Amino acid sequence: MSPAPLWIAGAGGVGRGALDTAPAASRPVAGFLDDRATATGSDPATDPATGPGGLPLLAPAAVPPGAHYLVAIADPAVRLRLAALLEARGAQPCAPLVHPRAILAPSAALAAGCLVMGGAYLSCDVRLGAHAQVHYNATVGHDSVLGERVTVYPGGNVSGAVHLADGATVGSNAVVLQGRTVGADAFVGAAAVVTRDVAPGTVVVGSPARPLARSART
Ligand SMILES: CC(C)(COP(=O)(O)OP(=O)(O)OC[C@H]1O[C@@H](n2cnc3c(N)ncnc32)[C@H](O)[C@@H]1OP(=O)(O)O)[C@@H](O)C(=O)NCCC(=O)NCCS
Repeated sequence: MSPAPLWIAGAGGVGRGALDTAPAASRPVAGFLDDRATATGSDPATDPATGPGGLPLLAPAAVPPGAHYLVAIADPAVRLRLAALLEARGAQPCAPLVHPRAILAPSAALAAGCLVMGGAYLSCDVRLGAHAQVHYNATVGHDSVLGERVTVYPGGNVSGAVHLADGATVGSNAVVLQGRTVGADAFVGAAAVVTRDVAPGTVVVGSPARPLARSART
């Protein structure tokens, strides 16, 4: 049976990355869901705007009932909000979207709505929660548990037995040493090296990683 066509929520950088991943993974894409669709003035039900790849672009609220969706947005809080909105309208998270050039151990377990880009490596007994994303050339070591809406940006290295709690983000080329925990909604800056547990909601940078005193994110 052929897979259900995907509705990609988010027509920005991650969404277009998902659009690259889908055909490689033999997953048809129905179109995009993005708030920007409402700015066109079109009636999303009858006159869809055009999104990346010339595909239909609808407002998220206009998602067809029963649609399979992938939230392809970097910000985990927006990912949470959009997933709730889409499910309230009868959509369901898609089966994990995995680029064929990613390497997954047979024992890795991925929840619905996950996105794994090309060049990623997920080792044995890794678990990814719903809507988690592992971007290109990132690695996740054995026994690591990534919660819901976790993101590992390109080139991030998560060592073995790490816990990334719900909504945590690991920036490009950052390293999380083995056995450490990164708390919920914490953010590990690009190229940081996490040597100690990171408290929930904290932004850390540098090597060794230390909390950022002031952050434009907060
Ligand atoms: C950590 C991060 C979230 C901070 O963002 P921010 O709150 O907007 O911080 P600012 O850019 O205002 O920088 C604040 C200070 O932190 C420093 N800083 C920012 N990011 C840093 C990093 N990764 N490592 C070391 N220092 C960093 C800045 O130089 C600045 O220092 P200053 O006040 O002495 O000039 C962000 O810089 C980052 O690393 N994001 C990850 C980006 C990434 O991986 N993107 C991949 C997309 S594909």
